[in-house]
Amino acid sequence: MATSGEPVLEVSGLVKHYPLTRGVLFKKQIGAVRAVDGVDFTLGRGETLGIVGESGCGKSTVAKLLCNLERPTAGSIRFKGEDISRLSGRALKAVRRNIQMVFQDPYTSLNPRMTVGDIVGEPYEIHPEAAPKGDRRRRVRELLDVVGLDPDFVNRYPHQFSGGQRQRIGIA
Ligand SMILES: Nc1ncnc2c1ncn2[C@@H]1O[C@H](COP(=O)(O)OP(=O)(O)OP(=O)(O)O)[C@@H](O)[C@H]1O
Ligand SMILES: [Mg+2]
Repeated sequence: MATSGEPVLEVSGLVKHYPLTRGVLFKKQIGAVRAVDGVDFTLGRGETLGIVGESGCGKSTVAKLLCNLERPTAGSIRFKGEDISRLSGRALKAVRRNIQMVFQDPYTSLNPRMTVGDIVGEPYEIHPEAAPKGDRRRRVRELLDVVGLDPDFVNRYPHQFSGGQRQRIGIA
């Protein structure tokens, strides 16, 4: 696989073991599920990587580790040169602006009670520095336009879109 320029993501020796415990009050570790056991890969800008394997081989666990939803038992995850696998607090929040899950089934990942404008605008509540309050409505409309949706759709609900349009809401 040809890497174009600087690697965006460098994963090295990634390991995730989940402890297996016995007992209720006095939990004793009796082993570990070796969910991920030594994964290495490099991804350049504009590249796409598919992970294929039998059920339970650790694909989703790798994705969770990359998004920092799980902590690795060992190994490193470098995003543009910085190891992000053990960040916390403010530093973790800052890298989260650059990493995003796009769910396979957008119908279950979009809140049916929220308008598309509120869904796309919600991350600005968590990362207010990304856009000043008075500018958010305009930014949301701009994002809808970028993903090929009519900006006038801001007041529609997820069920009023096609499957492909819902995918694009997730990307926005
Ligand atoms: N929180 C957890 N605690 C303990 N074991 C876990 C946990 N999450 C996942 N596992 C185990 O880790 C292994 C890898 O799970 P993972 O979800 O990464 O598999 P997968 O490759 O995504 O499988 P599928 O194709 O079925 O989605 C499985 O054996 C699973 O049972
Ligand atoms: Mg999975």
